[in-house]
Amino acid sequence: MPGSELFGKEEIIEVIKVLDRGILHRYAAEQMLGVSAVREFEKKFAEYMGSKHALGVMSGTAALKVALAALGIGPGDEVITSCFTFVATPEAILDAGAIPVFVNIDETLNLDPEDVERNITERTKAVIAVHMTGVQAKIDKIKEITDKHGLYLIEDNAQACGATYKGKKLGTFGHFGTFSFDFYKPITTGEGGMVITDDKDLFFKADCYHDHGHVHDMSIPRALENRYCIGFNYRMNELQGALGLAQISRMDEVIRRHRENKRYIKERIMDIKGLSFREIPDPDGEIASTLTVFLPSPKKALAFKEGLSKRGINVAHLGSNRWHFVPNWEHMREWKSMFAHRCPFECKFNEASLKDYSPERFARSTDILDRALSLDISVKMDKERLDKIVSSFREVAKEVL
Ligand SMILES: Cc1ncc(COP(=O)(O)O)c(C=O)c1O
Repeated sequence: MPGSELFGKEEIIEVIKVLDRGILHRYAAEQMLGVSAVREFEKKFAEYMGSKHALGVMSGTAALKVALAALGIGPGDEVITSCFTFVATPEAILDAGAIPVFVNIDETLNLDPEDVERNITERTKAVIAVHMTGVQAKIDKIKEITDKHGLYLIEDNAQACGATYKGKKLGTFGHFGTFSFDFYKPITTGEGGMVITDDKDLFFKADCYHDHGHVHDMSIPRALENRYCIGFNYRMNELQGALGLAQISRMDEVIRRHRENKRYIKERIMDIKGLSFREIPDPDGEIASTLTVFLPSPKKALAFKEGLSKRGINVAHLGSNRWHFVPNWEHMREWKSMFAHRCPFECKFNEASLKDYSPERFARSTDILDRALSLDISVKMDKERLDKIVSSFREVAKEVL
């Protein structure tokens, strides 16, 4: 859990500054004191990403919802995304009233661009490209397709904050980039998220929507501000802003240490016959938060995992993942929402959309993920631990391959 591995005095200092000021509501702080930790974090985040605008929100899920709302996506619309993503991605689409259309992954473990294009219908409004576990989707090809078909592009970059593709930060390729700062992410504010965009008008809409429709104007009392639309409360608070300020300055260190640790292991297991590695569209730009290998068969993958586990090394078998893979989501298959009328699945605007989430449609992805084992890379891994991982991989390979 990289961000929280590095919690130190900088986080404490920033949080105490906010507590000393005594106002935890970002707009109250700005209006009454002329200073806001969230505003400062947004500025630094935008600078770091090379983006014109950044908006702090309360989670990565909220970031997706705000981006979709600002793009006007709702009932009657389809949004294409990956069948290998956290359930938050389709939840945000469904919460907007639209229908998620899942497509297969390729060996990057991210959206297969050809399958994206195959699944475009007259109802498709947007593609959400997810950059899973620190590695880029083929974002140049995906952008070519969204541009060609006049679709919106959102990058769900919850899991690859700080990663680049050919020198450009992920999250800056589309209309919106969204980020999560929950406990598991490269930098953390406990819970939290960010929306970035270069488009002034889209930023305005996102800004209004995330705060009950407020047209923010720091020169007048909040209660007198105008309303742009019906919105919701997805605001980030000052304590999250304070943590974010300290954490963003650690981003490069997190990535550097991940890369060193990953390289150490990978270089020492690369020659193992029968083991192959995840395709990485730009190896210099990944954040190296995971090391994913493919085994020749699902059976060998499970045996390999067991061998590693006996030696104290935990890896995830991606095909068994309960929260990140559509074929394992029985609730999605059953359209199990809280509403008796099963909206948006049975909403009349969505009648024409295919809402088939059966495992057969994702056989290709299942074949890839059933052979995939993923090792989490931490910031703090001493030489003893790294060597133990390497020797365990080599020993288990002799037993299994
Ligand atoms: C790909 C992806 N999207 C969205 C989210 C949602 O982020 P949050 O937990 O901050 O709501 C996550 C969180 O794990 C994620 O992995």
